[in-house]
Amino acid sequence: MKIIKVKNYDEMSDKSAEILASVVKAEPHATLGLATGSTVLGTYDRLVEMYKRGEISFADISSFNLDEYVGLGGDSDQSYVHYMRKHLFCRTDFDLKNTHLPDGAAENAEEECARYSALLAANPRRIQLLGLGSDGHIGFNEPYSPFDGTTHVAELAESTISDNSRLFERLEAVPRKAITMGIAEIMQARSILILVSGAAKAEAVRAMVNGEVNESCPASGLQRHGDVTLIVDEAAAGLL
Ligand code: F6R
Repeated sequence: MKIIKVKNYDEMSDKSAEILASVVKAEPHATLGLATGSTVLGTYDRLVEMYKRGEISFADISSFNLDEYVGLGGDSDQSYVHYMRKHLFCRTDFDLKNTHLPDGAAENAEEECARYSALLAANPRRIQLLGLGSDGHIGFNEPYSPFDGTTHVAELAESTISDNSRLFERLEAVPRKAITMGIAEIMQARSILILVSGAAKAEAVRAMVNGEVNESCPASGLQRHGDVTLIVDEAAAGLL
């Protein structure tokens, strides 16, 4: 794992946007694996700025997101499809028909998982962007999710529900389930870029980088991937 230590969130966002932009410039038809959450927001802001300055275009880029809450569709402000449109897709020239997320509002979630998994198999990702959960999750693969797992309905851990409740009116409004890409599918990306900021993630960073490769820390599986870049700020790197 290549580790880039930076001072703070802003530097992490600068560096990650630089890496993603270099992929988009070199391979204008690339397929990206994208994430939501707070950590990647600064990266998306910088990519939007680069687009506005005419430095990059997403017109021929395709994307596949990691996950979506079960029960939430595009009409919900808390859905990840809404988040992606608001923070990246609709602020740039992404063609929405080339952007993909699991459909959280699908009538049959199991069928939706199979559909998304087949799409992923047919569309290898050039680079997968990841955040890290304070419990070591990647996507919504919580501790003890199998390393060989594909897209599935995941029960969110209590710590994840509480971490994510800041974006909902009340704790009870946070969905308990999500459709997530499985760890095996995350690992299929040619390269992986994982961003981590803040002292609350320091123990998860330690377990991911220096811990045993073990399903108790889903992100530790990344040690087995040949091309992972971790950008970590000083606070999150505190236990390395
Ligand atoms: C988001 C995702 C999650 C987040 C993780 C960190 O699509 O799959 O794994 O990356 O929960 O979230 P933040 O960045 O909000 O701390």
